[in-house]
Amino acid sequence: MFESLERMPPDAILKLIAEYGNDPRDNKVDLGVGVYRDAAGNTPVFRAIKNAEQRLLDMQTSKSYLGSRGATDFCDAIQALVFGDNARHNDRVMTLQTPGGSGALRVAAGVILRANSDTTIWVSDPTWNNHVPLLGSAGVKLESYPYYDSAQNELRFDAMLDVLNKVPSGDILLLHGCCHNPTGMDLSTGQWDEIIHVIAERGLLPFIDLAYQGFSDSLDEDAYGVRAMFDRVPEMIVAASCSKNFGLYRERTGSLTFVSSNADTTAIVSSQALNIVRTMYSLPPDHGGAAVTMILNDADLRNEWLAELNDMRKRMKEMRTIIVAGLGKKVPERDFSHIERANGMFSYLGVSPDQVAQLKQEYGIYLVDSGRINVCGITSDNVEYLCASIAAVL
Ligand code: LMR
Repeated sequence: MFESLERMPPDAILKLIAEYGNDPRDNKVDLGVGVYRDAAGNTPVFRAIKNAEQRLLDMQTSKSYLGSRGATDFCDAIQALVFGDNARHNDRVMTLQTPGGSGALRVAAGVILRANSDTTIWVSDPTWNNHVPLLGSAGVKLESYPYYDSAQNELRFDAMLDVLNKVPSGDILLLHGCCHNPTGMDLSTGQWDEIIHVIAERGLLPFIDLAYQGFSDSLDEDAYGVRAMFDRVPEMIVAASCSKNFGLYRERTGSLTFVSSNADTTAIVSSQALNIVRTMYSLPPDHGGAAVTMILNDADLRNEWLAELNDMRKRMKEMRTIIVAGLGKKVPERDFSHIERANGMFSYLGVSPDQVAQLKQEYGIYLVDSGRINVCGITSDNVEYLCASIAAVL
């Protein structure tokens, strides 16, 4: 039977992890997969997570099953983190724990299909490499709206609005909550307000992917879009990941929240989501979520986590500044200032796929084919080499 199968190409981002790992060069640089790295190039476990895990180890008395929704205390804590206090004790809102942000996206796609198999999800052009394969493989129709002009390195906000004004009522708009992946260029608060106005006017359903809360300005500022949307639309979906802001990548910790216009509908949506979970992976992993809950509900651990998150954000901004300065010296005829204006981990470098291949083969510098860089791979030790190599391929 298996002879009938054809080999699938590897995922472009995950492939880079293996390629980088197998590269024997000492001066190699990983600007590929979206994981945080410190100044020594490591992706350490947060101290707050280590401390929470230690407490869990001492305190946990059972690993028996929880339900398909996951741990309710995790759902409550994450709902407050994402929505602020507005959503607390609001029966229009239901959150479930999911295996990472990807699990949340996949369950949401299942619910969307059951609600209306004719609907289309509109994604930004460009968007995260895995949005289209992940949502598309669930069977949902996809279209894209203009988002970023990679020649001018700025948002195509007017073009985006033009298209949104033509999207059929009832269709779904996938938005990045903050730290847009792959460009790092986000909507301003004024632009969020304009988008929310169009969504409300045209009866679109917002679906926000919040994978980097805390990586741009602050936990609250990064949730502006989600919270402003919540105040002004009857229905929305939010997929939130704890992979980056708690450094829990492999623990697969995330959440999915549905908001609908009344408690009865939310109860129905939630029964559909739980049925999808039960028939797909039964119930989510617990460990990462248990550590997150402990951190969010304990003042000392929460402060420790916030301090670590602040340091990470500061380092990402500093690395943006030093690479823009370095490139400015090596390639003075080009403007790289957009890298400093962008948020979170990512920016477009402005190199072609051939130049990406050359950077990898000749210099051991790894980035995604689109020219997306993860600024966490930059250090004060490698920035000179990076800029010289980029100048050489340009
Ligand atoms: C990325 O965009 O590099 C991250 O979100 C990791 C992934 O799963 O693709």
